[in-house]
Amino acid sequence: MATSSHFLGIETSCDETSAAVLRMEGDRPRLASLVILSQDIHRVFGGVVPELASREHLRTIGPVVDQALADAGLELSQLDGIAVTAGPGLIGALLVGLMYGKGLSYALGKPFIGVHHLEGHLFAPWLEDPSLEPPFIALLVSGGHTLLLDVEAWGRYHLLGETLDDAAGEAFDKVGTLLGLPYPAGALIERLATQGRPGRFALPRPMLRDGYAFSFSGLKTAVLRAVRSGGAEEAHRADLARDFQDAVIEVLVEKTARAVSELGRETAVIGGGVACNRALADALRARLLGAARVVVASPRLNTDNAAMIAAAGGWRLARGEQSGLDLEPFDSGPLPGIS
Ligand code: KG4
Ligand code: ZN
Repeated sequence: MATSSHFLGIETSCDETSAAVLRMEGDRPRLASLVILSQDIHRVFGGVVPELASREHLRTIGPVVDQALADAGLELSQLDGIAVTAGPGLIGALLVGLMYGKGLSYALGKPFIGVHHLEGHLFAPWLEDPSLEPPFIALLVSGGHTLLLDVEAWGRYHLLGETLDDAAGEAFDKVGTLLGLPYPAGALIERLATQGRPGRFALPRPMLRDGYAFSFSGLKTAVLRAVRSGGAEEAHRADLARDFQDAVIEVLVEKTARAVSELGRETAVIGGGVACNRALADALRARLLGAARVVVASPRLNTDNAAMIAAAGGWRLARGEQSGLDLEPFDSGPLPGIS
């Protein structure tokens, strides 16, 4: 019989306080619990306020971890390891999760590992589809990052391209502000776009044919110009949301499909918060029909959560890796194993 082990994941890089227990049965992952507490307070400010985020994490990390253990029916002593997001993210926010995880690790005498947040996003789809195996192309699209990777093996990544300015999610959020929507606006723009007619606003497709790099700030400026000429008025808002979303999706799909074809991969993965966008996944599936399958996790696992951190960290811990208790949080930095 396959032996099982349990990994606690903790994620506090931004405005979600999250804990999860991942049970590994041999090499098959099973999510035993996942608690995500979203900090509502930032809505009032139209963006994440770092100091408030840290305080909220501090207030809730204990109960969130306790709840994740209770949901999994586990005692702390039954854990085999602890995985915590070490970065990139807000330093004060990361510190709360890191300190909590280190404290548990020290008290329990169990290994601890710091996880790169984006490697978490990369592992999320594997939780629901354990047959997902590299090599594959991965498009990671979140509020802070947009990058295209060739995943040669778990832990071995080749960077094909990334954004030169705004991240895709950031573009959704900034356009949301221009359209008078609350933060974060990605899901709201997607909903609005379903009611819009395409083609009313001529928006650019930045760097569409230029290699694998992305740029979204010019598109945002084009939306600003459209807003100045009345695009945010009730009668036009849905059409503008639709044209903006279509422009972002066209660029993301074009580059991902080109990578799939040029590198001869048979699978494409979309990860990160923007992967919640159904129109994006549908467009990539349509584009790759017959050429490659597209794997996307469900929304709960695409936005920030601790299950993905337990998955990436559990994979590394199972290989015997661990971090020292002197590990520091970082606000930016490359994925481990990237070239
Ligand atoms: O990965 P994530 O939860 O946090 C970061 O690591 O940044 O991503 C959050 C981002 C936000 O910018 C949000 O607007 C965007 O993901 N997002 C979406 C959708 N749902 C969330 N963007 C487009 N369409 C969606 N349905
Ligand atoms: Zn994220």
